[in-house]
Amino acid sequence: MRFRVRPIARLQGEAEVPGDKSVSHRAALLGAVAEGVSEVQGYLEAEDCLRTLSAVQALGAEVTRKAPGHYRVAGGGLRGLSEPGDVIDCGNSGTTARLLAGVLATQPFWTMLTGDASLRRRPMGRIAEPLRAMGATIVGRADGTRLPLAIRGTASTTAVQYATPVASAQVKSAILLAGLAAEGPVTVTEPAPSRDHSERMLRRFGARVVTEDRTVTLTPGPLRATAVVVPGDISSAAFLLVAGATVGEGRMTLHRVGVNPTRTGVLDVLEAMGARIQTANAADEGEPTISLTVTAGPLRPTTIGGPLLIPRLIDEIPVLAVAATAAAGVTVVRDARELRVKESDRIAALARELVKMGAAIEERPDGMVVTGGRRLHGAALTSGGDHRMAMALAVAALGAEGETIIEDVSCVATSFPGFAATVNALAGTTAIEVEP
Ligand code: S3P
Repeated sequence: MRFRVRPIARLQGEAEVPGDKSVSHRAALLGAVAEGVSEVQGYLEAEDCLRTLSAVQALGAEVTRKAPGHYRVAGGGLRGLSEPGDVIDCGNSGTTARLLAGVLATQPFWTMLTGDASLRRRPMGRIAEPLRAMGATIVGRADGTRLPLAIRGTASTTAVQYATPVASAQVKSAILLAGLAAEGPVTVTEPAPSRDHSERMLRRFGARVVTEDRTVTLTPGPLRATAVVVPGDISSAAFLLVAGATVGEGRMTLHRVGVNPTRTGVLDVLEAMGARIQTANAADEGEPTISLTVTAGPLRPTTIGGPLLIPRLIDEIPVLAVAATAAAGVTVVRDARELRVKESDRIAALARELVKMGAAIEERPDGMVVTGGRRLHGAALTSGGDHRMAMALAVAALGAEGETIIEDVSCVATSFPGFAATVNALAGTTAIEVEP
């Protein structure tokens, strides 16, 4: 599948972005190990999150779809899961694999996890090591650090105090989930705070979770079912925000965008770049949400780096790199080495693809230097099978001169299946044509 993208004059109007991917995964997993029936509204019906639903079903949780995005997850408690009859395929989804591994560390049976070619390349030692320290047996490829992995858990995990070398919500969450069956409180200390959706949702499900600075402590105990309302995904909104800020002269409003402070680095950077973004309708249903109105205008360059900022916008760097190509001057991205182990090596991919459009980008081990300000031109590009690359390149193409072809875009369905349709509705024309 490919995108044929034509430049547009503006994005105008209002839209809702799909449900938050991180929050959706957690709702399915916690619902599956809680006691009772959890109601989830606004669940992201994209491939990654559907993988998590299939996984918990394979483990014996009952999942019923009531309406689009509305699910009932019936859990039988931590002891209610059972050995799956087949390998669980996590597809492209790192969150499914890593968080599920945490749950499986508490299950006294064998489960095999695998994933697509991209996920099988990604590091799993970062969760395997702490989960082994908690008593799980984990074996697999590359000395047990790459999928496929076979995991046999234990009904009573060891209460660890674990200092993670990376600021990763997936690592932190895997340990906390494994900690639900621990014989005492479990603590995780991160080098810098990562997204805290697990901690918030665990509390909603009745767990005792205390955060002090960079350390989270979970006191084990049963979870009870609850209702979850999933906010709109700021990581999906980011593509529309950058398009709205850089293309033509429009004004566009996105409603109910999740603005958990551990995720809003993209708004801070766009503000530092001079983007005009207004907020309204602040609400809170377990996660804070807001309406964002963006007006197109000139951007200025900035520096994106530091241990506190990078985890708050790591998934938005591809599209922020596109914003940087529109800002006259030098934008530096640093301290973002993690980009190399995402769905693709995003540093290499951005440098490789945006250069084809005439951008000036210099690759660095932990980021890139973008010299922006001249208009990009249409080109023949590829996403490399990475959803956020596909959408970031499409945003670049909306503001470029001439037509752009982006190959290998079926991956967009992993997080934002309606991306092209949403852009086209806001553009008032078929700006992004989806071709077989
Ligand atoms: C996620 C955490 C981040 C992020 C990913 C989703 C999560 O990964 O990049 O898209 O839902 O916990 P890391 O934990 O590897 O930083």
